Order: sequence, then structure tokens, then C-alpha cells
Amino acid sequence: MRILSDETSEKVGKEVELAGWVDARRDHGKLIFIDLRDRAGIVQVVFNAKQGDVYKTAENLRPEWVIKIKGKVGERPAGMINEDLKTGKVEVSADELEILAEADTPPFDVRSDGYEINEELRMKYRYLDLRRKRLKENLKARHRIVSFTRKFFSNKDFIEIETPYISKSTPEGARDYLVPSRQQPGNFYALPQSPQQYKQLLMIAGMERYFQIARCFRDEDTRGDRQAEFVQIDIEVSFTSEEEILDLIEEFLLDLFRELYPNKRLTLNDGKITRMTYEKAMKEYKSDKPDIRKDKKDENELAPVIITDFPMFEKKQDGSWSAVHHPFTMPKVKDVKELKEQFKKDPEKIKAHQYDVALNGWEIFGGSIRNHNPELLSAVFEALGHKKTDIEAKFGHILEAFKYGVPPHGGIASGLDRLVAILQNEPNIREVFAFPKTGDGRDLMMDAPSEVDKDQLDELGISLKKKK
Ligand code: AMO
Repeated sequence: MRILSDETSEKVGKEVELAGWVDARRDHGKLIFIDLRDRAGIVQVVFNAKQGDVYKTAENLRPEWVIKIKGKVGERPAGMINEDLKTGKVEVSADELEILAEADTPPFDVRSDGYEINEELRMKYRYLDLRRKRLKENLKARHRIVSFTRKFFSNKDFIEIETPYISKSTPEGARDYLVPSRQQPGNFYALPQSPQQYKQLLMIAGMERYFQIARCFRDEDTRGDRQAEFVQIDIEVSFTSEEEILDLIEEFLLDLFRELYPNKRLTLNDGKITRMTYEKAMKEYKSDKPDIRKDKKDENELAPVIITDFPMFEKKQDGSWSAVHHPFTMPKVKDVKELKEQFKKDPEKIKAHQYDVALNGWEIFGGSIRNHNPELLSAVFEALGHKKTDIEAKFGHILEAFKYGVPPHGGIASGLDRLVAILQNEPNIREVFAFPKTGDGRDLMMDAPSEVDKDQLDELGISLKKKK
């Protein structure tokens, strides 16, 4: 039965079977050395000229060929021990070799950390890029963080609920990805910018404690900390308070850091995550996601900070107003009257029950206590410039739902990709996705987006304008 490379150290004197890729080959006259790579790492395999046929076959091996071997694990002679390798004290003397697949020479080295290679080339051959150790480790770390998250929230009586991807536009401030409907020609679904409205509707449904590892879609230019398709750890709680949500997130982050990254140094305030108001952050750090690390060059420092008391509204370039977080956030006002008065006087002064968490200068969480009062919510929509008919068409479903017994509720969502990137000391989030997109939204490996057949367009009732 096949074992993994990292198990060989425990099998000295035993006959084992291994399978994987040829990471490197070195010829030493009558001996050929192969570094055999599998998902666990690397182990050295030796072919001896005395073995005749097996040795002859081994002479053909090239990097990235897929092979299976059988052989005996032995201790390496003193002086040949490789301290850098987990299996560096042993090697396997092969007595059988089977070539499972040959391979062309890869377009780049898959053994380096890869930062030196043109990124477009890496993305085109992502399946090869992912063979490198650094990216494998990133995906494993991502998996551990997701597993930890599921366990943490499940233990706190949350349940994970999937919400639809093919849905209706929900305002998070970005452009929607639209999906044309075949069955309702001329109508479009939108891919969710977040599960915001669904999770609130789940609170009305009485679920009380929801979480989801949720895919979000925002049609915007990608950057180091931003992908058009990304993942949130999404949370919503009924009968809660700002304090309760923030305490929950604090416990989650500190437990996660301590359990999965025990070697990182935490910059805390009396054992707690530093908290400051938006006003203080802007005044002292000129940023709503301040980097409060003591030593910004230290890779192993984690300096989380919770920011509270954001303003509710901000002025857009065209002079109209938008919600700093999203319109479902509860403004810090007594009632509709106070909101209207204050909005007339000085919209920027109205604060919101909104909070963020920043980590080393990146925004990793954003959330709020929700405005569950239908009248107050309508007033917010009006303040944001929505006409009454427009409000009905866009948000009628949620305003109606609020009439059927809505519990007070609030929540938060974390950018999972950002969290993983920071924890893995990666400079951008593309390094922690299996299949990221380029800055201009292309998947170079799949060659997407791409043209579609005329028949498909006809079926959707779509005709294309000529490209300008
Ligand atoms: P928000 O828009 O603040 O809130 O998003 C929450 C967190 O998601 C991450 N994030 C992103 N990560 C990668 N690429 C992107 N394009 C991107 N956009 C956002 C950030 C951010 O803090 N529904 C609300 C949450 C709530 O109120 O509960 C929401 O989506 O880390």
C-alpha cells in the first residue's frame, strides 16, 4: 500500500511503496538520486546500477514525471544527512519503478517560492504553480482556518446555512455581476455582493445564530487585497448587541491566533484587542484601518484593532449621499424624526452602530447592528436618494418581511482571504486562492471570460452591440 513521503522516517528497514512527482534528479555515476515529491513533502530515492533494468528506466526520468516505486528505507550515511528536509535522515533504495505519466518541461521552476516568476505565467499554469511548497502550505493553512472557524461557531450553537448565489442585487457599494435569465427573458439575476439580506431574512425566520463560509461577488478592479470573487466568514445573531458581537469576534480571533499560529506575537491591550473610535483612528492614524504594529518590519507580529462609531453617511463625488457600511446599518438616532432633522442639518455627524476589525493595516471584518425598524429603514433609503417606487422595487421584500415579527439583530463578516494572507505573511490575497483572477478580471488558465455561441445568446434573448 502506498505511504506518504513523510512517513518514511518511521519505516527504516522496511519495504515501502511511494508515488509522486520527480522533483529533481541527480546522477552520481552508478547511482541516480531522485527527490520524490508528494502532497506531504519530499523524500530521496536511490537507484543503483547493480539493479539493471530498474536503473535503466530511472535513467529516463525527468522533472515532473509521475512515478511509483517500491523499495527499502535505509538510514543515510553520516555526512549525507539533509537537515533541511523532514525526511533528511533516510532514503529509499528502489527495487521497482513504474512510470505513471511523462511530463513536458514545465514553463517555470516549481521548486522555488515563485515570487520571481511573471505572475501572468504563474496564473496561466496555476495547476503547476500550485505544485510549489509555498502555495500548497497556503492552501493547507486556509483549510485549517476554515475548519477552525466551522468548529468554533458550531460549538457556540451557530448553524451554517447556505444562501443562493443566483439572486437579486444587494447593495454593498460595488457593481453587480449580472446573470441573464433564460426563463424570464429580459430579466437578470445578480450574484450576491454578500449574503446580507438573506442572513437578515434568516433572523426573521427565527434561526437566531447563523454563519456561512460564503462566496461574494463584486464587479470591481482587483488589487492586492481585493478579488472580484472572494470569501467571507459571514455571521448574524438575533437578540444581540454591539458589545456581544465584538466580544464574540475577539474570542474567535484570539483563539484562532493562539491555536493555529502559536509563534506569532500578539500586540494587545491588557490581554484584549485594542478598541478605538473611528474619530480617534482618523485623527491619530489618518486611517479607518490603522496599522498599530510596534514593529512594521516584523512578520510575526499581529496587531488587531476594533474600530467603532463609524459615521452612517458619506458624501459621494457627485454630491449625493451613500451609506458608509450599507443601508441596513442602524443609525445612532432615537427615531425617524431625529434622523430626518439631523440629516437636514449635518448628515456627516450621524453615527452608526457599525464596527470594523483591522489587522496590521488591513480591514479584515466589517459589520453592524441592523436597522430593523421598517419606517426608519425607509427613511434611510430616502436619505440615500431612493425614490418611493424604487424602494418598493428594490427593497420591498425586506421591508415587508420586517412587518412579520423581526427580532433585533446584528452581525459581521470577515474577509477570509485577507485573514489567511496576513497570517501566512503573503503580500497579496492572490497567493491564498487556488485560482485567482488577474487585475482586469481574467482567468488566464481557463481563458475566461470568453465569447459564447450565438445560439446561447438567442436563447437568452440577448443581442450584442458592436464593440467600440
Ligand atoms: P463588507 O463589505 O465590509 O461587509 O465586507 C466584509 C469584509 O469582506 C472583505 N472584503 C473583501 N475581501 C476581498 N476582496 C474584496 N473585494 C472584498 N470586499 C470586502 C473585507 C471586509 O471587511 N454584508 C456586510 C457584512 C455585515 O454587515 O455583516 C459586508 O459584506 O475584509
